[in-house]
Amino acid sequence: MQWEQVKDWLSAARSIAVLTGAGISAESGIPTFRGEGGLWRNFRAEDLATPQAFARDPLLVWEWYAWRRELIARAEPNPGHLALAALEPRIPEFHLITQNVDGLHDRAGSRAILKIHGDLWDLRCTRCQRQWTDRSVPLVELPPRCECGSIARPGVVWFGEGLPPCVWEQARRAASGCQLLLVVGTSAVVYPAAGLAPLAKSAGAKVVEVNVGDTPLSDLADVTLRGPASEILPVVCG
Ligand code: OAD
Repeated sequence: MQWEQVKDWLSAARSIAVLTGAGISAESGIPTFRGEGGLWRNFRAEDLATPQAFARDPLLVWEWYAWRRELIARAEPNPGHLALAALEPRIPEFHLITQNVDGLHDRAGSRAILKIHGDLWDLRCTRCQRQWTDRSVPLVELPPRCECGSIARPGVVWFGEGLPPCVWEQARRAASGCQLLLVVGTSAVVYPAAGLAPLAKSAGAKVVEVNVGDTPLSDLADVTLRGPASEILPVVCG
């Protein structure tokens, strides 16, 4: 019943924004941050994804990212990613806002992607700030270095850092201007991303959550669909 309702809303809407988190890639075999298998060598993401952790031990942080790069390189987009890519050309105004840095939305064929937490395949020099893409797995050297000789860091946003201002502004505009916001596979505890659903709702959008469990957004959502994104999205977006 609720699935039918969401299907109708999605086919009638002229403007849709989607916010995705690690849960959409779970069925591609990539562990979520706060779920089972989310710990790496007993570290939580909050212990490693910070400028302080990198300054203290760049090799340790890079070993974590090297592990994630290997997992992701072997992974394939799942039917959830593919359903969003297929929905995009049918909606006049469509924005996919992702907290994921795995690049699986790109590989599924999505186009209008706002990567608010950056991209795991990008590297940035810690001294000259040069940015480049390196998809090699494994990386030739850990930590990788820039041509200027300095250590590079992953091109992602860490806890305590600001989001890329231009991308974030576009995400805010997409959330506040859409008729429907679909929130998929995020625990909605990391800000500012978690603030996009309340923003959309207060601007009059319908909010639909797709998640295997409850989140702080579940009460705010007009409809919550409980289950794996790879099963729900192909049905409601189809
Ligand atoms: P989390 O690991 O915090 O949350 C994953 C969410 O996905 C949970 O709410 C799960 O219930 C849900 N989930 C798991 N499997 C699912 C499935 N098959 N289908 C649908 N939902 C599923 O991941 P995020 O919310 O993305 O940031 O985490 C937000 C940010 O915290 C990340 O971008 C990263 C992290 O630390 C930085 O590194 C800055």
